[in-house]
Amino acid sequence: MRQRRGCIRVLAPFCVLVIFLLLTLTASYKPVIVVHGLFDSPSDFGALLEFINETHPGTNVTVVDLFDRTESLKPLWMQVEGFRQVMYPIMQNAVDGVHLLCYSQGGLICRALLSTMPDHNVDTFISLSSPQMGQYGDTKYLKWLFPEHMKSNLYRLCYTQLGQDFSICNYWNDPHHRDLYLNNSNFLALLNDEKVNPNATAWKKNLLRIRKMILIGGPDDGVITPWQSSLFAFYDDNETVREMKSQSVYLQDTFGLKTLDARGDIVFYTMPGVSHTLWHSNRTVYDRCISPWLT
Ligand SMILES: *[C@@H]1O[C@H](CO)[C@@H](O)[C@H](O)[C@H]1NC(C)=O
Ligand SMILES: *[C@@H]1O[C@H](CO)[C@@H](O)[C@H](O)[C@H]1NC(C)=O
Ligand SMILES: *[C@@H]1O[C@H](CO)[C@@H](O)[C@H](O)[C@H]1NC(C)=O
Ligand SMILES: *[C@@H]1O[C@H](CO)[C@@H](O)[C@H](O)[C@H]1NC(C)=O
Ligand SMILES: *[C@@H]1O[C@H](CO)[C@@H](O)[C@H](O)[C@H]1NC(C)=O
Ligand SMILES: *[C@@H]1O[C@H](CO)[C@@H](O)[C@H](O)[C@H]1NC(C)=O
Repeated sequence: MRQRRGCIRVLAPFCVLVIFLLLTLTASYKPVIVVHGLFDSPSDFGALLEFINETHPGTNVTVVDLFDRTESLKPLWMQVEGFRQVMYPIMQNAVDGVHLLCYSQGGLICRALLSTMPDHNVDTFISLSSPQMGQYGDTKYLKWLFPEHMKSNLYRLCYTQLGQDFSICNYWNDPHHRDLYLNNSNFLALLNDEKVNPNATAWKKNLLRIRKMILIGGPDDGVITPWQSSLFAFYDDNETVREMKSQSVYLQDTFGLKTLDARGDIVFYTMPGVSHTLWHSNRTVYDRCISPWLT
């Protein structure tokens, strides 16, 4: 009896501490900012909002309502500027920082924001099936625009000044026309510091302000091509997929990827059985790959 009471006396401060921690933790989920992808809009994210409300009640989630539907074809630097103006005040209101959850094309918009915002306070950047190393493939999204031989010919449009006015061309990465890509891609090649970027050092430093980068992708995506682009892998000039660690942007650490990896701050999830449009409404994907990071 005596012993038990002594034990309680010893443990009591810990109990108070644990309760205090639980209270502060549940009270302080960081705000989440969601950026949609090509041809979609905030109305597509209802399931995700319900998941977050259920597992992390009280989280302030903003699905930015900009460049919806066909507007999402606008040049990516223009979109980056628009999203920056909406996100900046949210970041300023969030003393402990925010999380970014960026889907498909939105993942490139977010990466560009992270690289070009010297004072962002993003804690965790979740890239949900985003073509981080670019896209080279026919997709059903584009069939109506370029019905035949689209993949092998799109460089003719994309790697021109006119082509760069379309978001898709900003990250079109044709492994057979690398010289044209480097000369004309004014978004991905610049962001990756593959073409000379006077601000590369600053951009790298900005990106490295994040705490974690979560990369989610899968072989049954059906749109992102190669699907491994979502994990920073890409085709070589023979259309063989080379893993992230073989990419020259990684080896030369041009924009911070290798540093992040060396820090242990990139987490990879390969999720089979998910087609492109279902990533943000799949409960398994949410529970396994997203929910644990929304602290
Ligand atoms: C979150 O869930 C609660 C309980 O189910 C519900 O009452 C509330 O309306 C939901 N809030 C949002 C923003 O969906
Ligand atoms: C959510 O965040 C936005 C942007 O910081 C803010 O305007 C809004 O008041 C917040 N909502 C709640 C319920 O805290
Ligand atoms: C590179 O781009 C510039 C400006 O767009 C153009 O004048 C030049 O011909 C291009 N060079 C190659 C090799 O494509
Ligand atoms: C580099 O940064 C300067 C100053 O912020 C800016 O004026 C310039 O446009 C930037 N260059 C590029 C290529 O973004
Ligand atoms: C390209 O692929 C072909 C056929 O798979 C193979 O024989 C060749 O060695 C590859 N070339 C390179 C440079 O990887
Ligand atoms: C949801 O994700 C799981 C895990 O990757 C997958 O097996 C399943 O097929 C997906 N369901 C749908 C409807 O996409």
